[in-house]
Amino acid sequence: MNLLLYGAPGSGKGTQANMLRTRFGIPHIATGDMLRAEIQAGTELGRQAQPILAAGKYVSDDIMIGMIRNRLRNPDCEPGFIIDGFPRTVAQANALDILMVELRKRFDRVVYLKVDVEELLRRLSGRLVCPKCQRTYPPGTSACATDGSALVQREDDKPEAVRPRIEIYLEKTVPVLDHYRAAGIVSEIDGRGTIEEISRQVLAAVNGKFTSPLAGGVGPRSGPGGGEPSAKTAET
Ligand code: AP5
Ligand code: MG
Repeated sequence: MNLLLYGAPGSGKGTQANMLRTRFGIPHIATGDMLRAEIQAGTELGRQAQPILAAGKYVSDDIMIGMIRNRLRNPDCEPGFIIDGFPRTVAQANALDILMVELRKRFDRVVYLKVDVEELLRRLSGRLVCPKCQRTYPPGTSACATDGSALVQREDDKPEAVRPRIEIYLEKTVPVLDHYRAAGIVSEIDGRGTIEEISRQVLAAVNGKFTSPLAGGVGPRSGPGGGEPSAKTAET
């Protein structure tokens, strides 16, 4: 099962990817998390990327394509993977197409979490993140449920970076969706419900595509999210 989670900053990609990773036991490949790990480790790439992330801009296509190319070749991706945060530009989407052909893989589903800008701003301003495992939590959470670490605010969730992140998403990443719509594999989910409600819809969207070795599958293909309903909110 190869999945791609698509959506604006704060739309819930990381939250739903964690649910899918736990349920299906396939890796969550989040390019933002990978960049933050480089920053934390003080590598040359991390030093280059730090001011770009802090400003809410995008790291160059060449660097990101190289990063995803290496990651998808890792043997842990053989049973499947969940990509979150890539591709963010049409050039990245074209490069990913070529890479998938090389790897003899295809995407089973692109899950598009659609949330309006007001809600995105609300979520990002209160979001907390575990500095150790990168899991994200809503405001008021005291510690990471997985490893007990004290939670922190992400540098790019400070008000001066949040607007630029949404603007660059609208300019450069919204066109990427058309790339996958043309392939007929997009499930559009209204991301405004509770985390549990959205999780149910995400599972319905991937329904019938995968039998989980951990959870015994997600049941027959039915219910909302399995197709591509028409847009209900602005294209975010
Ligand atoms: P990245 O880390 O990917 O950030 P992002 O896309 O801006 O997305 P977020 O992680 O902020 O949001 P999310 O959708 O994961 O939401 P979450 O689940 O946390 O990238 C960071 C940066 O790295 C980029 O800005 C760029 O600089 C660089 N980068 C990365 N990839 C790149 C690429 N391919 N090319 C170039 N540059 C790249 O949820 C948000 C909050 O809402 C949480 O608090 C959560 O608990 C809460 N929440 C989730 N769901 C719900 C719900 N249903 N109801 C209420 N609250 C909810
Ligand atoms: Mg995320």
